[in-house]
Amino acid sequence: MIDPIMSFAADWQAAQAQKLANARYCSLATVGLDGRPVTRTLVLRAVTDNALVLFVSASSPKWQQLKNNGNFEILVFWPELLRQYRLGGNQLRELSAVEMHDHWQRKPYDAKILDLYYVNHQAQSAVIESREAFLADIAKLKADYPRDEDIPPAENALGLQLAVNFVERWQVGEGGDMHQRTLWTQREGGWQRQFLVP
Ligand SMILES: Cc1cc2nc3c(=O)[nH]c(=O)nc-3n(C[C@H](O)[C@H](O)[C@H](O)COP(=O)(O)O)c2cc1C
Repeated sequence: MIDPIMSFAADWQAAQAQKLANARYCSLATVGLDGRPVTRTLVLRAVTDNALVLFVSASSPKWQQLKNNGNFEILVFWPELLRQYRLGGNQLRELSAVEMHDHWQRKPYDAKILDLYYVNHQAQSAVIESREAFLADIAKLKADYPRDEDIPPAENALGLQLAVNFVERWQVGEGGDMHQRTLWTQREGGWQRQFLVP
């Protein structure tokens, strides 16, 4: 039986090699604290054996939501291929300090400054007084840390490895064929594959 995560990983690598418009991105859906669905675009950083890796701020609503209710779904859509993946689960692991160290080294300067802003000023997604006030605070942080390599790792920067227990692929039918939908569900000892009405 094909491992659907490996299959997704191969498609994702190919999407990046072909430089497809959405190759780097995904939509993460979580359950809001009030029970309503919440979605947002994130960079998909890595695909491991059984999980997807995302980087978020611990100050963000998405992290509060995931801590409150671990249910998530990640949607990846490549318009050029008319192919969609839905991957979901309810378990995650925070990356270790060692794993985060490498990520922090590679993070662009402005993204590091923003992480410092979340720690020293306001949480991600908080309401700001004005764009001008925000930019003034950012300018002060940049003046304090003019050199990328001097910025200390922000304690709020989190790497999340989200364990996937179902994968659904939708693929447009070739040459006038019906569209294809395949669902893989994790079961004891492997994956169960089913075909769904498109
Ligand atoms: C193309 C694109 C890429 C993004 N990548 C990330 C990302 O990797 N990490 C992140 O925290 N937010 C990223 N964002 C911003 C999120 O979509 C979102 O606005 C922010 O994380 C706040 O989400 P929250 O309030 O649900 O926590 C990205 C937005 C876009 C449009």
